[in-house]
Amino acid sequence: MVDFTGIRTPFYCYDLDLLRDTVDLASAEADRYGYIIHYAIKANNDPVIAGIIRDRGMGADCVSGNEVRRSIEVGFPVRGIVFAGVGKTDEEINFALDKDIFCLNCESVEELQVINEIAGRRGEIARVALRINPAVPAGTHRHITTGMDENKFGISLPHLQTALDLCSNSENLEFLGLHFHIGSQIASLGPYRELCERVNLIWKEYNIEEYGGYVLNLGGGYGIDYNDPEGNPIPDFASFFALFSDNLRLPGGTEVHFELGRSLVGQCGRLVSRVLYTKKGVGKNFVITDAGMTELMRPSLYQAVHRIINISSSGEPETYDVVGPVCESTDVFARDTVLPLTKRGDLIQILSCGAYAESMTLRFNLRDTAGSVYISNGEIISVTRTEAIDTSESVSATIG
Ligand code: LLP
Repeated sequence: MVDFTGIRTPFYCYDLDLLRDTVDLASAEADRYGYIIHYAIKANNDPVIAGIIRDRGMGADCVSGNEVRRSIEVGFPVRGIVFAGVGKTDEEINFALDKDIFCLNCESVEELQVINEIAGRRGEIARVALRINPAVPAGTHRHITTGMDENKFGISLPHLQTALDLCSNSENLEFLGLHFHIGSQIASLGPYRELCERVNLIWKEYNIEEYGGYVLNLGGGYGIDYNDPEGNPIPDFASFFALFSDNLRLPGGTEVHFELGRSLVGQCGRLVSRVLYTKKGVGKNFVITDAGMTELMRPSLYQAVHRIINISSSGEPETYDVVGPVCESTDVFARDTVLPLTKRGDLIQILSCGAYAESMTLRFNLRDTAGSVYISNGEIISVTRTEAIDTSESVSATIG
C-alpha cells in the first residue's frame, strides 16, 4: 500500500506501470495489422502521461489549437498530429498550418471553404480528411454519442458529395480520406461492426479511392470497465483491432488510423480525496469528501458510475451517498453505495479517473487545482503540489 501521508488532497494518482502496460498492449495489437494510433489527448493532457504515450511512438489527436500546442510541447511528431472539432477558429487553422500537422479532420462543407481560403491566402495546400457522421448508434450514454443525425459532429451523408467535389475542385485542399468517431465509452464491439459495414459501403459508393483517399481514421470510443477496474484493468485490444481487420473491406494501401483516449489512460488514474465529514441526513448518511465535481464531473454530467473505495477503513459495511463540497446538488459521486464504516480523515479513492477527470476540471467556487502523484513500482516517484497540508486536518469531529 502506497503511503500518502502529508500529501495535500484531493489529488490524482497515476500508476505509470499500468499506463505503460496498457499502451504497450494497444501498440502491439495495432501493429499486427499495421494500424496507426493517435492518442486522444483530450482524455488527459498531463505531460507525464502524454510523454509516456509519445515514447511508445503514437501520434496525437487534438480538438483545439491548445491541444495541438500541448502535443507539440510534449514531443509528439507534428506529422503524427490530427486535429478535429466542429468549431475551429481561423487562428487555430492558421496555427495547424504553421506547424504543418498531418491532417485537419473537417466537420462541415462550410469549414472546408474556410480552410481552403486560409490556405490559399498563405499560398499553401492544407491536408484534410472529412469527418463523416455515419448515423451509427454507439449504444452509449446519449451525452457521449456523436455519430447520429442529431449530433453536431461530422458531415452528414447528404452533404458528402458536395464536400468531395469541393476538395477536388479546390486548389488549396489535399483530400486524404475519411474520419469517423461514433461515440465514447462503447462497451461492446457491435457498434464497431456496424461502423465497418457503413465504412465499406461509403468507401465504395462515393469512390473514395478515386478522389485520392487513402486514410481511414476510425476515431476512438473503446470503453473501459468502470464496474471492475481492478479485475479488468486493461481493455481487450486484441479483440478490438481484430474486429476491424475481419470486417473492413478496403483497397490495399489504405492506412487505418485510430484515436484512442479513455482505453489507453482511463484505468491508470485515481482521484484520492479525504473525508471532511460524515453527516447524518434523513434516511441516509452522507460522506462529504474534499474532492468534488470540479475534479471529476463525469458522475454529475453523465450519471457515470465510478468505483469508490475507502483505503483507511476495514470497518463494517455501511450505505452512504458520497458527495463533494461544491454548491451544486448534482455534486454527488455515488448514491447508496456501500463502504466500510467511514469517518472524518479517511482517504477515499475514486477509481478509473485517468481519462476525462483531470482534463475536465472546473474552477467553479474558485476551487484550488488538484495536484498529481505518480507511482511506479508501488512507490511515489513524484508529486506536483508540495505545499504543506492544512493543520485543520488533525481536528477530529466529535460526532459522525
Ligand atoms: N476522436 C474524437 C473525434 C473524439 O471526439 C473523441 C472523444 C475521441 C477520439 C476519443 O474517444 P475515447 O477513446 O476517449 O472514447 N467526457 C466524456 C467523453 C467525451 C469524449 C469526446 N470525444 C466522458 O467523460 O465520458
